[in-house]
Amino acid sequence: MRVLQAAAFGALVFGTAGAASAQEEGMPPLPKASWSFNGPFGTFDRASAQRGFQVYNEVCSSCHSMKLMSYRNLAGIGLTEGQIRAIAASKTVPGELNDQGEPTTRPGLPSDHFASPYPNEKAARAANNGALPPDHSLIEKARVGGANYIRALMIGYVEPPKGVKVPDGLYYNQWFQGHLIHMPAPLADGSVTYADGTKATVDQEARDVATFLTFASNPEMEQRKHLGVRIVGFLALMCGVTYLVKRQVWSDVHKSSHDEVR
Ligand code: HEC
Repeated sequence: MRVLQAAAFGALVFGTAGAASAQEEGMPPLPKASWSFNGPFGTFDRASAQRGFQVYNEVCSSCHSMKLMSYRNLAGIGLTEGQIRAIAASKTVPGELNDQGEPTTRPGLPSDHFASPYPNEKAARAANNGALPPDHSLIEKARVGGANYIRALMIGYVEPPKGVKVPDGLYYNQWFQGHLIHMPAPLADGSVTYADGTKATVDQEARDVATFLTFASNPEMEQRKHLGVRIVGFLALMCGVTYLVKRQVWSDVHKSSHDEVR
């Protein structure tokens, strides 16, 4: 049993080490953007997350599902109840079976999960040259580099180096492992029109969608950081109080030892 455990542990360590070195091989370093949600006081830039939802909704959602997100979760990026109701109602979701036992559809409600673009994995693969567009609910956590990787992937479509042949149905991306990806460059300048007047460059859209996807993977992040800061503050306060108590408790001993010396 022990031996098996050790072997499994070894495979895990060496397996991940292998993956990491494969990623570094021939890969330019991941560009690191500054994000509002970094650091112990980080919060989500609501305007950017809302624009990012727009990018997901208008571009990515035609291939990528987000099965763990409900429309009402969009309250977390500052959308109002009315806006959420309208977004949900614009979607078609599976309804109850009708009296003949046939499946029906109905407009979405805030409590519904995001509608998926394909009915099942086979349909998704058939539409994407055999590749499966991964679900986006937890994608920020599922990839090394998180938001930086998502942004880099969006802006990473470049001309392939000389001598590299890109087969049909594949695209060259400098930050995708192995470089040949089944996803065509999803973003272009002006892919969306932002209501707040922000210029929709590829980089802006990439940053915004990465912010939204980071929110989706970590909806509790702000409360978690807030609690962390309060706990550290509380511990610092208790540290001061304990020190004062210690001085108080030992003050007699100090006094008497001074008396003895005198
Ligand atoms: C035309 C369909 C299509 C659209 C639109 C699309 N994707 Fe993809 N995406 C794919 C496919 C297919 C894959 C799997 C690629 C592979 O494994 O080669 C993928 C993979 C990914 C991955 C995972 C890459 C990895 O490391 O495995 C991310 C992240 C991603 N897409 C983000 C996005 C974002 C963000 C958008 C919207 C801006 C988007 N995609 C729009 C088809 C699409």
